[in-house]
Amino acid sequence: MRDADGRLHYEELMGEEGFSSDSSLLYHREIPSAIVATATWELTDQATAPNHPLRPIHFTLHDLFRDSEADMTDAVIGRRLVLGNGDVRISYVVAGAVSPYYRNAIGDECVYVESGSGIVETVFGALPYRTGDYVVIPRAATHRWLPADVSRLYAIEGQGHIAPPKRYLSRYGQLLEHAPFCERDLHGPAEPLLGEGSDVEVLVKHRGDGPGGIVGTTMTYATHPFDVVGWDGCLYPYTFNIEDYMPLTGKVHQPPPAHQVFEGNNFVICNFVPRKVDYHPLAVPVPYYHSNVDSDEVMFYVGGDYEARKGSGIDVGSVTLHPGGHAHGPQPGATERSLGAEFFDELAVMVDTFRPLEVGEAGRTVDEGVYAYTWAQGRSGSLR
Ligand SMILES: [Fe+2]
Repeated sequence: MRDADGRLHYEELMGEEGFSSDSSLLYHREIPSAIVATATWELTDQATAPNHPLRPIHFTLHDLFRDSEADMTDAVIGRRLVLGNGDVRISYVVAGAVSPYYRNAIGDECVYVESGSGIVETVFGALPYRTGDYVVIPRAATHRWLPADVSRLYAIEGQGHIAPPKRYLSRYGQLLEHAPFCERDLHGPAEPLLGEGSDVEVLVKHRGDGPGGIVGTTMTYATHPFDVVGWDGCLYPYTFNIEDYMPLTGKVHQPPPAHQVFEGNNFVICNFVPRKVDYHPLAVPVPYYHSNVDSDEVMFYVGGDYEARKGSGIDVGSVTLHPGGHAHGPQPGATERSLGAEFFDELAVMVDTFRPLEVGEAGRTVDEGVYAYTWAQGRSGSLR
């Protein structure tokens, strides 16, 4: 592929799993490997502490940032780590400032937009985002966030890739008819995005000997990293809006896998959206007590009215951690109150991990301390 002057473009194959999985071909105006400097990027606090002694935890996420700080906070550097393990890290940020150029070399990112709108500029092109979007950015795709208004972002950073569950896909990768969303709900970049400039810094998050095995490097590129005149392939960033998730409902209670939207390496992402609930005349619409013995469960309460958690202090902006090894379920009285309900107006994003989660700096800051004892109506021998 040549430009108007007959000069060859520089072809880059970007591929996953040793070029044995999804890939794309990108055509650059300049050499994509031309860097002129590298330096350490000091990440914000990535250290985590075990959840020990073991307990369910309620994090009041909205206490982490003051709205007045948003103009100075960006979606990359401003992230504060709530929970993490070797497979996934969950951070939160309230961002109003343009972020630096950035890429995550550890894994894909799935950033849920709790509220706000703007554009994510990527090497593949620009992606508009809005409230309710999952913004899925493939590993090592250079991008930056440009909020149009203050954006509350819940960043789920994987180790490896994040994609729709395999059971939703045909053997050739098409979303099947029974899946709760389809290709027309996934929105990729529409056209090339070309930047101008030289000596452009890109922050790279990658594996290393820092806390959590993570470190950062600033790479300075001789020419602008957004110089792709065209690309094709099946690897690219996209958005999916939670409103386009068509919930599966049943005559009796549907287990969490019915609400799954993505899967990652050793974790899954589910969402609970406004829906009709169980319609058997004797059905109990709120969940049973459940012991997900292989998982820690992280629920982010995004909107509506969460029926099973009434009386626990959970509200919009709350995050709960229900660790494996301990059963959880409705707060006292919620089961009886739910009888006869036909519709739940609730919106929540859930991450279930297959290895225990540890608590990050932000999690420790907004741990409200008493949630563990709400099923016992507040009775507790020690509150922290
Ligand atoms: Fe649960």
